[in-house]
Amino acid sequence: MDTQISYILAIESSCDDTSCAVLKNDRVLSNVVAGQEIHTKYGGVVPELASRAHQSNIVPVVDQALKQAGISKENLTAIAFTRGPGLMGSLLVGSSFAKSLSLALNIPLIDVHHMHGHILAHFINEDQKTPDFPFLGVTISGGHTQIVKVTDYHEMEVIGTTQDDAIGEAFDKSGKMLGLGYPAGPQIDKLAQEGDLKKFPFPVPKAPDLNYSFSGFKTAVLYFIQREVKKDPDFVEKNLKDICASIQYTLIKILFQKVEKAVKQTGIKSVAIGGGVSANSGIRAQLLSYKNKGWNVFIPPFQYTTDNAAMIGISGYFKYLEGNFAGMEVTASPRIEM
Ligand code: KG4
Ligand code: ZN
Repeated sequence: MDTQISYILAIESSCDDTSCAVLKNDRVLSNVVAGQEIHTKYGGVVPELASRAHQSNIVPVVDQALKQAGISKENLTAIAFTRGPGLMGSLLVGSSFAKSLSLALNIPLIDVHHMHGHILAHFINEDQKTPDFPFLGVTISGGHTQIVKVTDYHEMEVIGTTQDDAIGEAFDKSGKMLGLGYPAGPQIDKLAQEGDLKKFPFPVPKAPDLNYSFSGFKTAVLYFIQREVKKDPDFVEKNLKDICASIQYTLIKILFQKVEKAVKQTGIKSVAIGGGVSANSGIRAQLLSYKNKGWNVFIPPFQYTTDNAAMIGISGYFKYLEGNFAGMEVTASPRIEM
């Protein structure tokens, strides 16, 4: 086999999606994602149920990824997996599976930081323009809201982060108050498209420096709904689209206030968003509008925004090129730093 070509199998199991991808160098041959319906009825991810679902999903998902890629496991060059951050029980399934497979096939094991994955997803080769270093990575998901200064594939510094909830939680928890199922983010996005952005003004919370806070926003939404429903029990039903549009409008304002500040402070005008919330159409449109200010903006292809193994595969590929492998003693790390 050509030694210049690598086939990396990657596994992502940090939260509630079981995913496996196969990459040929920096190109994706397959990227299979199995979601977990079970959490919908609980209005959020139940860690123990997530772990059990990963256990039943992992073998068929890996099988399917290999099949779609059209290669057998004997052709693999290395195994990459998400080491953290995430839910312990979920990470354990992916990391144990990856370690066993690397041992059985006698090929290198590569541990990947989940948030590096969201940022490096921009380098999955689809013949698009990729960001030059340095750039600012804005990672927005159900667990994170961060502004990251990225100086290299492996060098990332968090320069702003949330002090409480993540922006995805702000979407999901607000949606739950409106009676929307989990995850509410995509539903708010859809409903907001036909709503009036400025109908219900919500406060923009204050947080120091480049940091974020969303807990005050969540409380404001709760009090607002309680107050209005007292006056009219059908208030939510009658105004759902406008409420969603107003919530989304405010969350976008909160997000970009600090991104603008980060660009000013660092002088870095390249901004790449990533993470599940970067699927949001309002956020995408807002980021694109900064092109007028001379920013270079990068939005990952839709399938690489929410959790997926292809982003773990590309991160693994860059570590593979440097021979940066993990030993068998590597463990899942739910709260690993960037
Ligand atoms: O990255 P991700 O799949 O998982 C985590 O690592 O958290 O992100 C999931 C989050 C959820 O909070 C979900 O509501 C949000 O991404 N999300 C969205 C949209 N699609 C997914 N939020 C707003 N608008 C969307 N279109
Ligand atoms: Zn994620």
